[in-house]
Amino acid sequence: MAEDKSIYCASVTAPVNIAVVKYWGKRDPKLNLPTNSSLSVTLSQSDLRTHTTASCSSTYPPPDTLILNGQSEELNNRTLTCLKLLRSMRAELESSDATLPKLSQHPLKVVTANNFPTAAGLASSAAGFAALVYAIAQLYQLPHSPTELSRIARQGSGSACRSLFGGYVAWEGGEKADGSDSLAVQVAPPSHWPGMRALILVVSAAKKGVSSTSGMQQTCTTSALFQHRVKDVVPRVMGQMKEAVEKKDFDKFAEITMRDSNNFHACCLDTTPPIFYMNDVSRAAVRMVEWINEKAGRRVAAYTFDAGPNCVVYYEEGSGREVAGTFKGLLGGAAGWDGERGRAVEAAEEMAGLK
Ligand code: ADP
Ligand code: DP6
Ligand code: CO
Repeated sequence: MAEDKSIYCASVTAPVNIAVVKYWGKRDPKLNLPTNSSLSVTLSQSDLRTHTTASCSSTYPPPDTLILNGQSEELNNRTLTCLKLLRSMRAELESSDATLPKLSQHPLKVVTANNFPTAAGLASSAAGFAALVYAIAQLYQLPHSPTELSRIARQGSGSACRSLFGGYVAWEGGEKADGSDSLAVQVAPPSHWPGMRALILVVSAAKKGVSSTSGMQQTCTTSALFQHRVKDVVPRVMGQMKEAVEKKDFDKFAEITMRDSNNFHACCLDTTPPIFYMNDVSRAAVRMVEWINEKAGRRVAAYTFDAGPNCVVYYEEGSGREVAGTFKGLLGGAAGWDGERGRAVEAAEEMAGLK
């Protein structure tokens, strides 16, 4: 038989997700298993996405390659693990059906780009690894469920397991040493709470000084406050957050979201040496949300910050004028937001609307 010189190719996009109960800490760094469960909102209709094309061919020279935002990247161990697992799933299909092309034997080329700042606390690793796993699963025509794929994405970056689902997604940390019960599950689809919106304030597009992977490792080993977070705080608020989502109770959702963001950043500060992800502009955004809520006489906005200075504000569509309108008015006027502390910045709306 003539050698198959075809180029096989699949392209996908994946959205970011922003946690309202944060994942921070690994109980098993090798398998990428978390110290605690987490819960996030996937910003599916957002402009913040990773676009990834995976291709393979017998004509490609080995080894596998990855191009991220136009630059050739070395494949780190976690990326190699994802490729290995996906390849072995394809090989299994090929061994049960001899008519399938032997794609598992071809070198892979992955070309990926984020249309938002990379490594700046806007969940690029989440969208990035969800897209990588999903693109290769499509390329290999794997029949596996999103849950099975999320187990692989988790090994690329923990937060990525949640981006394989839309809506409100829990990553149940699990207890088993092999990680078989550490899974992402959809708590509610986006249609459950159609009025939910997120405003993204890009305070800085610069790459963070301490990566999430290394930051959480340092927190785990040095912070006593973190032990309290894992044992006493997160288990309690996970249940409360699920209930708030179920009941579409924005007040409770907002309270837990803001408290959890602050608890997480307090643990970063309690790390030795301390990690500062938020900056002056981030703190100005916190005060702005506090002011909006005070003026409204109830919680209509909830800020949260991942491992970076950039702010995500959740609000309901009905409060669009009070929340997005106020931020836009202020950013448009620029006072206190532009300047040397970083250009703060473009307000991009999310999840439908309000342009
Ligand atoms: P973030 O807050 O953006 O998630 P992290 O420190 O968690 O920052 O992860 C950033 C790293 O994730 C990048 O340095 C890169 O290794 C990886 N990453 C980001 N985007 C992609 C992508 N599209 N495909 C593969 N890996 C990516
Ligand atoms: C603050 O998933 O980026 O965004 O598993 O080491 O890749 P690795 O870490 P990552 O950590 C995310 C931390 C967070 C909170 C969250 O998304 O839950
Ligand atoms: Co990340």
